[in-house]
Amino acid sequence: MASSPDHNHTLNGDSNTHASKKPKLSFITPSEIAAEFSHHDPTVARINNGSFGSCPDSVLQAQRRWQLKYLSQPDHFYFNHLQAGILHSRTLIRDLINADHVDEVSIVDNATTAAAIVLQQAAWGFSESKFEQGDAVVMLHYAYGAVKKSIEAYVTRAGGHVIEVPLPFPLNSNDEIVTEFKKALEKGKANGRRVRLAVIDHITSMPCVVIPVKELVKICREEGVDQVFVDAAHSIGCTEVDMKDIGADYYTSNLHKWLFCPPSIAFLYCRKSPKGVELHHPVVSHEYGNGLAIESAWIGTRDYSPQLVVPAVLDFVNRFEGGIEGIKKRNHETVVEMGQMLAKAWGTHLGCPPEMCASMVMIGLPACLGISSEKDTLKLRTHLREKFAVEVPIYFRPPKNGEVESLTGYCRISHQVYNKVDDYYKFRDAINQLVSDGFTCALLSN
Ligand SMILES: Cc1ncc(COP(=O)(O)O)c(C=O)c1O
Repeated sequence: MASSPDHNHTLNGDSNTHASKKPKLSFITPSEIAAEFSHHDPTVARINNGSFGSCPDSVLQAQRRWQLKYLSQPDHFYFNHLQAGILHSRTLIRDLINADHVDEVSIVDNATTAAAIVLQQAAWGFSESKFEQGDAVVMLHYAYGAVKKSIEAYVTRAGGHVIEVPLPFPLNSNDEIVTEFKKALEKGKANGRRVRLAVIDHITSMPCVVIPVKELVKICREEGVDQVFVDAAHSIGCTEVDMKDIGADYYTSNLHKWLFCPPSIAFLYCRKSPKGVELHHPVVSHEYGNGLAIESAWIGTRDYSPQLVVPAVLDFVNRFEGGIEGIKKRNHETVVEMGQMLAKAWGTHLGCPPEMCASMVMIGLPACLGISSEKDTLKLRTHLREKFAVEVPIYFRPPKNGEVESLTGYCRISHQVYNKVDDYYKFRDAINQLVSDGFTCALLSN
């Protein structure tokens, strides 16, 4: 495999003419949006963009063109188009995330892979005796399950000590997060140990809240934490993503959640560092040793088309007023409005103030639904899907000691461009019906 060719953007798999700089005469219409997402099941209220994202038809068509380009003449595609196309996508991502250099941007499958890359490197720190046994890795209690397992697999096993930052929920302010985070770093540094890595979510998955990452990264620097990895699986297309401003060493975001890419594609940003830390893709190919971006651009024969459609995605988002910034802003405003409407209808509250939300919001569910375990949340979620055609994830919040009549169940709603207000009314009415029927989770079989 030759190393990446330089900018050769004759990318026939894609229209590749971004309208971003051109003045817009007219924006995408509601019926054009409906056509772009006409492959969605029209009977389902799909208010869970957060879990799996969505991909419009024009991007799927671009993907299909790339796939055919490959299959029509694989050798030609491999030698002349693949690397140029991936480099072009990396360059566009660099601009979107305000990174200094395209070498800092690798494209990987997903945030799970990005976490493995960073944590594998932490494991080598222990196994190659750069770190002392018992040195710490700090993560949020609400870190994503797969990332927690990855920390266990790579760090705990190598002799690292893992410290979780407990966070209250519902949350009222960033101060609550900052206070707990500082306490966890103190714990990590106890007995002369060092904190080798902090793993910080940008938007936690469940419960969902936007974390003040910039502030936490700054605290890490002040407290001498070696490296900071931001797991921002949800962030690009959903909240502010600026590498120079945030200042983390490593930062990953999926593009298949909120940036309309087909599965699977994520970027992993690795800040150029004088320490010259070496990261490697866990899937080793003959590109091993050529730098993470090049290693990641060839992990064996497979479908690379999701990595090649970033230009088509930008064409799509630039059909909306304000481009991706406009989409983000409207998603935020609408999801907050819908969240407040639901909280009012059910007599509950939001899980955090609107300014701590992006395009997803947590809302308390009526206590009478009797959500008393994680199993209940899954059962209720399935019931909502099967009986009411509503797709929404649910969170179990164990009651704290001494709490009476607290809410134990919260739902997480999303808003994306394809959603309609009726999606949220359908959900509201489904819960209202369950309440008026005297339903409780105990009535659902396992
Ligand atoms: C915070 C967080 N990290 C990591 C992931 C994993 O993303 P993926 O399954 O695309 O690897 C998710 C998925 O929802 C997430 O919410």
